[in-house]
Amino acid sequence: MNNIKYAPIGVFDSGVGGLTVAREIMRQIPDERIVYFGDTARVPYGSKSKSTIIHFSRQIVHFLRTKNVKAVVVACNTASALALETLRPELDIPVIGVVKPGAKVAAEATKNGKIGVIATESTIESQLYTQVIHSHNPKAQVFGKACPLFCPLVEEGWLKDPVTVEVANRYLEPLLETGIDTLVMGCTHYPLLRSTLREIMGESVNLVNPAYETARELKDLLDEQGLSNDGKLEPEGSMHQFYVSDAANKFKQFANTILPFGVDSTQLIHIEEY
Ligand code: DGL
Repeated sequence: MNNIKYAPIGVFDSGVGGLTVAREIMRQIPDERIVYFGDTARVPYGSKSKSTIIHFSRQIVHFLRTKNVKAVVVACNTASALALETLRPELDIPVIGVVKPGAKVAAEATKNGKIGVIATESTIESQLYTQVIHSHNPKAQVFGKACPLFCPLVEEGWLKDPVTVEVANRYLEPLLETGIDTLVMGCTHYPLLRSTLREIMGESVNLVNPAYETARELKDLLDEQGLSNDGKLEPEGSMHQFYVSDAANKFKQFANTILPFGVDSTQLIHIEEY
């Protein structure tokens, strides 16, 4: 298999959240193969420093390169906000993140110019969502809210638990008061809480999932660079591969509840070696 267009796409996150992006890539560009890495030993990323996130992301990209990926999708808002611009010049393959696509959709979707962003502490502190939204819509008012408990609740699989609903009510109440008409789910774990978020925010608020636009950008980028898989070569082995840094079985069970096919194996790797 020498032709680079048949190489897989590397997709990574701190844990299961990036599966929401992988799922969208599989839906929009089904001929592409994915090598997914979830850093389940070091999740959550959202409360860690920039230098730590850069260090973790660099190790993961080194690992993905050993799988001969042709492009990398940083399916984690925190790593997209804190590490992407540092890593991009270090790589000779295309790399895209989720923040810019999500911010663009929100800036275009709002009617009243009031946009909420829920994300990890590090993503909110980076102000990247606000900057990118303003680059598309300078008059928009952006209200950021860090929701640090969401990520562990999702990793635990407590998607509709009363505890999660209570926590969500507390986080979202101040945003409801601002009158936003658009809410960006600015952490790849949060679309898994969509029905809870929808119930609290009501039908009139647009819930933006950056995964959709990210998959579209990836498709355009692969087409432009002549890297799109035409599906003419049967993949050797599984179509998609899953790797984690801890608790492989738990990850596999979770992946099986949200992906449109059965994940038969998830491999454990020592990410610190990369
Ligand atoms: N899913 C990630 C994000 O999009 C990180 C969540 C975390 O590890 O704190 O930001």
